[in-house]
Amino acid sequence: MADKKAILNIDGQEVELPVLSGTMGQDVIDVRSLGKYGHFTFDPGFLATGSCESAITFIDGANGVLLHRGYPIDELATKADYLEVCYLLLHGNAPSESEYKEFVDTINRHTMVHEGIEFFFRGFRRDAHPMAMLCGTVGALSSFYHRDLDITDPAQRVRCATRLVAKLPTIAAMCYKYSIGQKFVCPQNHLSYSENFLNMMFSVPAEECKIEPAVVRAMDKIFTLHADHEQNASTSTVRLAGSSGANPYACIAAGIASLWGPAHGGANEACLTMLEEIGSVDRIDEYVAKAKDKNDPFRLMGFGHRVYKNFDPRAKVMRETCHEVLDALGINDPLLDIAMRLEKIALEDEYFISKKLYPNVDFYSGIILKAIGIPTNMFTVIFALSRTIGWISHWHEMLSQPGAKIGRPRQLYTGELPRSFTPINKD
Ligand code: SDX
Repeated sequence: MADKKAILNIDGQEVELPVLSGTMGQDVIDVRSLGKYGHFTFDPGFLATGSCESAITFIDGANGVLLHRGYPIDELATKADYLEVCYLLLHGNAPSESEYKEFVDTINRHTMVHEGIEFFFRGFRRDAHPMAMLCGTVGALSSFYHRDLDITDPAQRVRCATRLVAKLPTIAAMCYKYSIGQKFVCPQNHLSYSENFLNMMFSVPAEECKIEPAVVRAMDKIFTLHADHEQNASTSTVRLAGSSGANPYACIAAGIASLWGPAHGGANEACLTMLEEIGSVDRIDEYVAKAKDKNDPFRLMGFGHRVYKNFDPRAKVMRETCHEVLDALGINDPLLDIAMRLEKIALEDEYFISKKLYPNVDFYSGIILKAIGIPTNMFTVIFALSRTIGWISHWHEMLSQPGAKIGRPRQLYTGELPRSFTPINKD
């Protein structure tokens, strides 16, 4: 990294700060020495803060670029399957044929969960939100895998990753089955990863479960399109939790909790709820006006992004997949008509253009998932299932880096000045 410098003038003193360059993207100003000049940086929401070095994912928000280990997302979504992408994110390179086969075999050996996990579900109400069940159950995995876990051992970290990638579909399907009062379905390892998940979701003991190949392909693409996304809120949550040396299964549960928010992974569920609330194309203008009204907290779910100030490249692939699935299933979903009309209006509206608000990954995923027959309250569960590989790959990368420190931001204190406490008479 060339020795570029940034010069700050602090209380009349000229301070030189190193400027670091990565292999792509913006340079960063290294402010680690700033403390000795009696100042902190201040950046709530981390709009302009790099929290780590990472080689996993690169995003160029201005040009709508998303690379995983250097490969463009649209190529991965069309030329690779989700488990190939999992291997790539975790190990850094695409697997050879033999590496891929060994990885799939390893995943297949971990798809089942301990019998005791079923009893965790018995404590949930039947109408519990599936994300609540997922968060609790994944956190509970730390009660099965903790005693002999050495997170400083790379091989054990990789085993955590494969266990989580393997078990998340099983647990996600269990959340759905429990919520509808049906028996849990065991994984069938002769099925592909995505078909296995759909089988655990939809098969019933009373009859054979037939799943359209187009639906399996769409499910696999949705998994890939949500696999990782740099230092988003939930990934940063996993990194911060993991920086204290916490159990990785508990760290992933923390990531699930963060993803649940409607501003983040909960947006696909919120987007579909919004489309249903709009109800018809002639009410779109009313909702676009609400979204533009500063005094109205309403936002168009599925639009806007902290990083993408251009089209989200995942939304482009998702849009094509949406039409493929609806055509393959012969579904004519009025919500898609509303979505397409809303997209057109928003992309031509000065407010959205000026604020660079484009459809994001969540805008179309909800329509595809609904077409597949997945209930709205399971959408973010599927996002969490997909993103688990991203979370655990960042956790693994962080612990692989020498000198990894516990994350501990500072603050701008705006509270009371020192004062003495006067006790009250409690007699
Ligand atoms: C994901 O980080 C990631 O990578 C996340 C993700 C991933 O893969 O991990 O990509 C997944 O979370 C996608 C985003 C899903 N969320 C939504 O679709 C919810 C709706 N969108 C927003 O709430 C919002 O756009 C965010 C949260 C996504 C981004 O918010 P920012 O970057 O903090 O921007 P902001 O809230 O400051 O908004 C900038 C301006 C504001 O207006 P002004 O204050 O400048 O006048 O744009 C407006 C906002 O009011 N705005 C919107 C809007 N999003 C932003 N106005 C109407 N509708 C919207 N959707």
